[in-house]
Amino acid sequence: MLERINQIINEIESFEITDSKSLEDFRLEFLSRNGKIQSMFGEMANVPKDEKASVGKAMNRAKIAAQEKFDKEKQHQERSSSKEFGALDDITIPVEPTYSGSFHPLTLALDEIKQIFLRLGFNITDGPELEDDFHNFTALNFPPDHPARDMQDTFFVKKTDNPDEDDLVLRTHTSPVQIRLMKEQKPPIRSIMPGRVFRNEAVTAKSYFQFNQVEGLYVDKRVTMGELIETLVMFARLMYGSNVKYRVRPSFFPFTEPSIEMDVWWGDEKNGQWLEILGAGMVDPNVFQAVDVDPETYTGFAFGMGVDRIAMLRYEIDDIRLLYENDIRFLNQFKS
Ligand code: PHE
Repeated sequence: MLERINQIINEIESFEITDSKSLEDFRLEFLSRNGKIQSMFGEMANVPKDEKASVGKAMNRAKIAAQEKFDKEKQHQERSSSKEFGALDDITIPVEPTYSGSFHPLTLALDEIKQIFLRLGFNITDGPELEDDFHNFTALNFPPDHPARDMQDTFFVKKTDNPDEDDLVLRTHTSPVQIRLMKEQKPPIRSIMPGRVFRNEAVTAKSYFQFNQVEGLYVDKRVTMGELIETLVMFARLMYGSNVKYRVRPSFFPFTEPSIEMDVWWGDEKNGQWLEILGAGMVDPNVFQAVDVDPETYTGFAFGMGVDRIAMLRYEIDDIRLLYENDIRFLNQFKS
C-alpha cells in the first residue's frame, strides 16, 4: 500500500500543469470525488490494523501535496490573467522605458534672452494676449487710420461702433505691456516683457500668424539714446559672441522718436548677410502723456525683438512652422 501511495505522490509531483485545461485534468485525476486520493482513502478499510497509522500519514501527505500543487497553480494562473497582479509577479522584469521631455527651442532662446537682461538689471513683466485698441494702438501713438489697424493685418476679436466700448484685438506686438506697466508703476522702470503676438499673415516658411517677442522698457530721469545703444550692443555681444558685427540704422515706429533698428552680420566675411534683430527707440512724448508720465521729467527707451528669429538662427531651423507644430521628432532634437 505504501508503495502505491508513493507512486501517487510521484505522479502528483511530475504532473505538468501548463494551462487551465491541464489544471482541470489534474483536479479530476487526483482531487475529485472519483479521483485517486479519494479512492486511496476508500482502501483504508483493507489496511491491516498495525499499518493504519503509517499508511494514514502517507495518504495525508499525498492529499496535501495534491491540494497544495492545485492551489499554487490556480493562483498563478489567476495572477497572470489579471494585469494588476501580473505586473507584480516578477519585480525584476525591466520596465518599458519612458522618455523624458525636453525644452522647446523657443523656451531655450527665451531663457538666454532673459538671463542676459536679468544681468543688465531688468525685471520681467507679463501682459494679456487679448488686448483692447487703446493699449495695442492708441496709447502707442498709432494714428486712427494706421494700416496696422486694418483687418488684413490684425486679428480683431471684437469691432464696435459704440463709443463707450473699445475694439478687442489679439495683440500685434508686446508694446501694449509697456503701457500697462507705466500705468501701474511710476518710474524708474527697467523691465522686459516676453510674450506671444499675433498677425494676420499668410503662413509661409518665413512668416506665421503667431510669434514671440521680447519688449524692453527703461524709463527714468535723463535716460539717453547713448544708453539705449550701449544696452543693445551689450545684448548682441552676450547673445551672439563678443566679436559680433552689428550696425544701427534709423527707422520709424509711432511710439518711439527717434527710432532705430539693429542688424547683426550673419555668416562668414564673404558669404553672409545683415539680419535685422530688433527695433528700438526713445519713448515718444505722446506715449508718456497717454499714461500720465511727465515727459519733461522723464525720458526712456524701448526695444522689441523677435524670439523666433533668434531661435531659428541659434538652432539652424529653416521653417518657422516647425516651432508651432509640436512634432515630437522635431522636439526630441533639443534634449540637453
Ligand atoms: N513693437 C515693435 C514691433 O512689433 C518693436 C518695437 C518695440 C520697436 C519697442 C520699438 C520699440 O515691430
